Amino acid sequence: MSTVSFARRNTGPELMDTHPFSFEEFRSYLRELERVNRWTLAYRPTLHWLKRALAVINKRRCLSILDVGSGNGDMLRQIWKWAQRRGVDVELTGVDFNPRAKKAAEEATPTGAPIRFETANVFDLAPANPFDFIICSLFTHHLTDEQNVRFLRWLDDHALHGWFINDLHRHPLPYAFIKYAARFLRLNPSVRYDAPLSVARAFTAADWQRLLKKAEIPLTQTRISRWFPFRYCVTRFKS
Ligand SMILES: C[S@@+](CC[C@H](N)C(=O)[O-])C[C@H]1O[C@@H](n2cnc3c(N)ncnc32)[C@H](O)[C@@H]1O
Repeated sequence: MSTVSFARRNTGPELMDTHPFSFEEFRSYLRELERVNRWTLAYRPTLHWLKRALAVINKRRCLSILDVGSGNGDMLRQIWKWAQRRGVDVELTGVDFNPRAKKAAEEATPTGAPIRFETANVFDLAPANPFDFIICSLFTHHLTDEQNVRFLRWLDDHALHGWFINDLHRHPLPYAFIKYAARFLRLNPSVRYDAPLSVARAFTAADWQRLLKKAEIPLTQTRISRWFPFRYCVTRFKS
């Protein structure tokens, strides 16, 4: 832990991006990630943001949302439940470039849910019908700074009304917490390896300011916020 620097983003590769997992191994990884998301209150910032998103569009029509790097699809299932409780019609799409993610997410999603999953690299995606909103969670820390600048531009070009990024805060506290909690809870060895590395690859507010500036997205039209316990989020509503 003492050898890890938090001054800048770590560039070490995560097993999730490099290891040739079988479908069963990848599904088990994603299921554990879903448990970690639940324990660390990861859905809260996105569901909170949804209230504002709903106010931006006409509530009487169907709200379309794309989740980039959707993994096991748990964020979209949370949004579906949230919308059901409020009587809001939603059309939800998850995109992930790993075909194992689509299969795992489909298995975990009840038949009849208004959620579909696709396999594609986000940078190759040019949706014919733009989505009202585009979101992502635990996705951007997988990208290099250059790719993040490109992703921010992609988000701004493809989201009709706005977008929301939910990712980790690069800080020694979440790093130590996740490292020791993963050991204590005997999480899958790959998740145990990747979890603290994800924190070290993640962001501070200064990183987001720098990346937004490079993407030529005015800081005055975005909001960077910290969410208890470990998340940093970036919000943009297009006026
Ligand atoms: C850490 S997982 C996050 C999964 C889920 N969003 C969550 O919060 O648990 C990151 C996901 O992004 C996907 N991914 C990485 N690069 C991608 C790209 N360029 N296009 C689409 N998906 C990508 C990976 O396959 C992986 O499933």
